[in-house]
Amino acid sequence: MTKNNQLIIFDTTLRDGEQSPGAAMTKEEKIRIARQLEKLGVNVIEAGFAAASPGDFDAIYAVAEIIKESTVCSLARANENDIRRAGEAIKPAKSGRIHTFIATSPIHMENKLRMTPDQVLARAVQAVQWALEYTDDVEFSAEDAVRSDLDFLVKVFDAVIEAGAKTINVPDTVGYSIPALWGERMQQLIARVKNADKVVWSTHCHNDLGMAVANSLAAVMGGARQVECTINGLGERAGNASLEEVVMAVRTRRDVFNLETSIDATQIVPTSKLVSTITGYPVQPNKAVVGANAFAHESGIHQDGVLKFRETYEIMRAEDVGWNANKLTLGKLSGRNAFRSRLDELGITLDGEDALNAAFARFKTLADKKSEIFDEDIQALVSDDFVNDDTEYFKLGYLKVCSQTGETPHAVITVLDSGVEKRAEADGGGPVDAAFKAIEKIVNSGAELLLYSVNNITSGTDAQGEVTVRLAKGGRIVNGQGADTDIVIASAKAYLNALNKIHAKSERAHPQV
Ligand code: KIV
Ligand code: ZN
Repeated sequence: MTKNNQLIIFDTTLRDGEQSPGAAMTKEEKIRIARQLEKLGVNVIEAGFAAASPGDFDAIYAVAEIIKESTVCSLARANENDIRRAGEAIKPAKSGRIHTFIATSPIHMENKLRMTPDQVLARAVQAVQWALEYTDDVEFSAEDAVRSDLDFLVKVFDAVIEAGAKTINVPDTVGYSIPALWGERMQQLIARVKNADKVVWSTHCHNDLGMAVANSLAAVMGGARQVECTINGLGERAGNASLEEVVMAVRTRRDVFNLETSIDATQIVPTSKLVSTITGYPVQPNKAVVGANAFAHESGIHQDGVLKFRETYEIMRAEDVGWNANKLTLGKLSGRNAFRSRLDELGITLDGEDALNAAFARFKTLADKKSEIFDEDIQALVSDDFVNDDTEYFKLGYLKVCSQTGETPHAVITVLDSGVEKRAEADGGGPVDAAFKAIEKIVNSGAELLLYSVNNITSGTDAQGEVTVRLAKGGRIVNGQGADTDIVIASAKAYLNALNKIHAKSERAHPQV
């Protein structure tokens, strides 16, 4: 239960967000994001799907050990094995939740589950009972609620509440609804389900028709008091409702919603940047709240208005959502202690003195090339320290690229392949192409390049370039990232990072397939 004017923010970046192609995260990456989500003030962190693989289980367990202020949740299908894995994974949590789900729409029950509605009903109740063996905090979701029969949904929700579920989540799994209908559905459910006032009503919307945020807000107006969302709207297919948009809508239009969240909005932009860096999903410049242009005024009339009186064209203040929060932190003369305390403030914990020394050495090298070092630079700089040695097969040694007008670009590279140095040279259409071709001569992965993108981490021509490379091989899609003030070097690092992920084959189950 919640105070009636409190909106619970349930973040599923580490679970539904991770279901985006190539966005799978390592344990260390999940821990970094979870720490930032805690700082952001989210109420519930869905840390993953424990039964997906031993690696997913370990990541949830590690997040549950570390996070103290937010509830840590694991997803589980409505079967005994999944629920027991979820229960074990959240065991160390100060506050732990199991989120169990089963599909309730005819299309899913008949074609995917091959179960009758009665069997689904019985299984839903049984799932909640299994989950209650581990925690009182059990959430139940009716997958594809949007295409489910309302009477059947009422019956299922009556039964799972009776069994002890505390949160009832109503998902638009396929992003099919429209705001007026979704708000009405929430209202009808709350009006018809027995003991509706004893549980928290939640909504979980996908963005296939671009209405995930609008639908979520309509559900809130219909009585939902939990919204499931992700940073940057990351998620399966077109993504989930974006946390920053939901939170800022509720906050900016307090006059309409009359609700509070526990979110520290100044942490929104830093969180968005961290998620983008780790997952390799860039934020589109015109994305609401966190896009680079969200507060940029191009037209002269607008600029004039904003200068005279900001509210003429701005409904939110950039600094309120964490723009300009990228404090100038350190420079060339900063010492090891200053570096260490900035890492602490950013919630970054390196594994031992050796890792700190190595990161500090890289910081000094960067400070020689770049006069101003911002928080985002430090985040990118330490990313290498979160690479698990067991999964780092390929490492960049040396790279030289010649690129000159009228000449074919040529790259010479050395790569440490499981510790053994190998050298190759290649020509290419451009310097990056030449570098990738040279790497392929050594690694011979045969992977298909799906995406290559470069973003600057901070502004200025001396900024670090952050490169994302998406590769596909044997049905798997991975994203690799690399950062450097030299974008060809950043590109080579990103390519090798993606190859390492492909090499570290992991068998993971998808919860909804
Ligand atoms: O979209 C969906 O239905 C889900 C459920 C597992 C809640 O992600
Ligand atoms: Zn979903």
